[in-house]
Amino acid sequence: HDLLDNELPDTEVFVVSNREPYIHNHADGRIVVQRPASGLVSALEPVMRACGGTWVAHGSGTADRDTVDAEDHVQVPPGSPAYRLRRVWMTDEEQEGYYYGLANEGLWPLCHIAYVRPIFRESDWQQYVAINQRFADAVVREATRPDPVIMVQDYHFALLPRMIREQLPKATILTFWHIPWPNAEAFGICPWKEEIIEGLLGSTVLGFHTRSHCNNFFDTVDRYMESRIDREQASVTLGGHETMVRPYPISIEWPPAAMEGQASVPDCRATVIAHYGLPDDIRIGIGIERFDYTKGILDRLHAMDDLLTRYPEWLGKLVFIQVVAPTRTKLASYATLQDDAIRLTEEINQRHGSETYKPILLVIRHHEPDEVYQLFRAADVCVVSSLHDGMNLVAKEFVASRDDEGGVLVLSRFAGASSELGEALIINPYDIHGMSDAMHRALSMPEAERRERMHLMRTHVRERNVYRWAGQILLDASRLRKRQKVADFE
Ligand code: G6P
Repeated sequence: HDLLDNELPDTEVFVVSNREPYIHNHADGRIVVQRPASGLVSALEPVMRACGGTWVAHGSGTADRDTVDAEDHVQVPPGSPAYRLRRVWMTDEEQEGYYYGLANEGLWPLCHIAYVRPIFRESDWQQYVAINQRFADAVVREATRPDPVIMVQDYHFALLPRMIREQLPKATILTFWHIPWPNAEAFGICPWKEEIIEGLLGSTVLGFHTRSHCNNFFDTVDRYMESRIDREQASVTLGGHETMVRPYPISIEWPPAAMEGQASVPDCRATVIAHYGLPDDIRIGIGIERFDYTKGILDRLHAMDDLLTRYPEWLGKLVFIQVVAPTRTKLASYATLQDDAIRLTEEINQRHGSETYKPILLVIRHHEPDEVYQLFRAADVCVVSSLHDGMNLVAKEFVASRDDEGGVLVLSRFAGASSELGEALIINPYDIHGMSDAMHRALSMPEAERRERMHLMRTHVRERNVYRWAGQILLDASRLRKRQKVADFE
């Protein structure tokens, strides 16, 4: 907030994302507010609470329309308003093409190397273009000044930066790509690669989580576009417009709001043990995420199977609670994953379990942030086994939840978080033996080592929190705005 006041005084700030931070749904004759499971929302929401401004997003709840004023706005968070949410509406058919189709059957598997084939349909592309234009028009209509700061989020809006730039040439457009950017060869199969790159290069700053994603982007531009790339200055110039391309590793708020009112670690453990009817001395493993094929959930279940086979001392002594939030369930790839996970869990539980012991508890439902933190605090080990992940904020949330410096994090080397959280036990999720060895090591780790590792990771996440992430992007934006002012004198 201070940074905005000092560096970008009197600026209008917008965030644009597909997913809204508060979803209003009808339930039992009431309106219930849901906080979606989305790394993007977990990161951006605290920033907006601190800075104020307008968040433009798709209104996806059954009661969203009931909560807005005539201008489609609602003040959020409910009960303690800090910023405005501007909903954009779309029909089911538009959502099919833009969100399920192009964004999630096309770009999502294209950018995540998880060996799921991307699907590109011309009709999806048409909807994607139309919805990007609708969001661009909504932002332009909301803007009361010619030079707002607009933070465009993620792969749903690759075309938005250019579309906004055409109408608001003086806008500072800060685009953040929350998922990986693949190598040029892999990206090259996209039939609309030029349009997507051109769209993104309407930005003032384009951010990725890691330097290697930035390098992949430079290589992609180099391969497919006529442009000027300055790797030293980390910029690309296309059609006379220059875009800075930089890594900004995203993070979480510190301290997290969900830590407020949490019981002590032993009490959280006792609550979870009572809830699932587990013995008092049980060791607990935890995995929490959306039910997404990029998260390596089946691989993790296989590792549990392998652990109980090769280290039978854990039989009856360890339970793995796998919490999964249903997501994008209309898509075949997601529905299949859910079926496979249920079947595999039953198989493993039959193989290693008994009347009274189920080694894996598969819990399929949405959990609110305070429930997630309670589970983290109850766990001995948290496993994040993404096959490919931009950052993965679950890893950072687990670390943030452990103010007792307890718990061990097992983390995939293919998640962006692994380049920051080197004190986790780093694994290759494709190597099942390696993963189960790491789980065994985590469960057997001496307390001093556990504390030291957790302490170092907590220090890192506390310092590199999400305010710092946003601050870094806004500082770069402010520098570029000042530079532009000087250039305008010439
Ligand atoms: C990832 C994406 C976000 C998205 C989230 C949840 O983190 O980068 O943009 O919001 O998944 O997915 P969903 O499709 O439910 O919004």
